[in-house]
Amino acid sequence: MSEALKGVRILDMTHVQSGPTCTQLLAWFGADVIKVERPGVGDITRGQLRDLPDADSLYFTMLNSNKRSVTLNTKTEKGKEILTRLIEECDVMVENFAPGALDRMGFTWERIQEINPKIVYASIKGFGPGAYEDCKVYENVAQCTGGSASTTGFDDGPPVVTGAQIGDSGTGLHLALGIVTALYHRTHSGKGQRVECAMQDGVLNLCRVKLRDQQRLAHGPLKEYPQYPNGEFGEATPRAGNASGGGQPGWAVQTKGGGPNDYIYVIIQPPGWAPLMKTIGREELIEDPEWATPEVRLPKLDQCFAMIEEWTKTKSKFEVMETLNALNVPCGPILSMKELAEDQSLRATGTVVEVPHPTRGSYLTVGNPIKLSASPAKVDRSPLLGEHTDEILGAVLGMSAADIEAAKAEGAV
Ligand code: COA
Repeated sequence: MSEALKGVRILDMTHVQSGPTCTQLLAWFGADVIKVERPGVGDITRGQLRDLPDADSLYFTMLNSNKRSVTLNTKTEKGKEILTRLIEECDVMVENFAPGALDRMGFTWERIQEINPKIVYASIKGFGPGAYEDCKVYENVAQCTGGSASTTGFDDGPPVVTGAQIGDSGTGLHLALGIVTALYHRTHSGKGQRVECAMQDGVLNLCRVKLRDQQRLAHGPLKEYPQYPNGEFGEATPRAGNASGGGQPGWAVQTKGGGPNDYIYVIIQPPGWAPLMKTIGREELIEDPEWATPEVRLPKLDQCFAMIEEWTKTKSKFEVMETLNALNVPCGPILSMKELAEDQSLRATGTVVEVPHPTRGSYLTVGNPIKLSASPAKVDRSPLLGEHTDEILGAVLGMSAADIEAAKAEGAV
């Protein structure tokens, strides 16, 4: 068993969520991730949404596992000198500052390449080149400008943002792929390169099927959407409620209990029709020409799911799951965060892990969702602010104890 990215050293100048998600993934794969933070302040999320006074927030701890923290004021002369040395010693540099911030520090891409021609320099910005390139961007801005919000929610309601952090964590994932690809390229070219991901692009990539539907719309109504056949289709891909994005109709139907998450998502595939109708007590519809084929069902999907719901309302979501899975009818209970936190199989696979922490006690986090057979990820706690400053300046940069003390006295670290 070995760490897949062992030996790769990452200069992590990321903050908030998008960049830290990326570098956390690389750290789980074994890269040595050195997180650079402003002295005395650190990543702003350390203090955001705090649940405990004087302890790093869950926002921070859940996005910065397995990293080392060094404090550095990159706006001092000594700080710039140390940053230059770090660029020399690292294989990858990652940042998600506001547009132009790194240039203002004096570290343009040209300068970074001069310092270390083999470095992979990766960055996240809200937008790519164009009208909005100078804008600061957060999660929901990306969801709204990347096509997710206009296609999420119900037809008669406003646009809705999703709970999944597709703008931040989604773009972090895209960037991580760009980085390992550039590292692979470096193994035979010997050269580093620049990797850029715009959050708008990342969200649009995840909304690919909605751009598919935009083009289909020119050729007639989208028959799997709840607007068909009675509602209006405008000029753009509409919000589809809970309709399936694929070719198989699906909907979230209510189950016994009446709670906010007592629902199950049921998909009707052609082979599932007969067993499903038999189970819900509507055997007469199995061969009925008005109901028997996907084509004739399309205009009355609402009635199909209403019939199914009559039955699901008599069972818990887990009972429905058990019954329908045995019949090969794809379905998924709507699981709450409480249920996911308590799920024993997610604990067993390391997807949900409990991590000890010196100042806040144990906390729950999502471990590495990507499983490598020869390189299993171990999740370690996030670092305290500047916890590894001396160790990094000494062991990585070769600074003497006196040099380190001088840098501290100058306020550079
Ligand atoms: N030492 C000295 N100064 C530092 C520093 C350090 N170690 N780290 C950061 N700074 C400075 C920056 O240089 C910048 O200074 P400047 O404005 O004088 O150039 C300042 O801190 C603020 O950094 P910035 O990135 O602009 O933070 P912000 O809080 O103003 O904006 C975001 C936050 C997220 C909106 C912005 O960084 C952004 O748009 N990032 C790209 C998109 C993104 O990733 N968004 C999602 C975040 S989850």
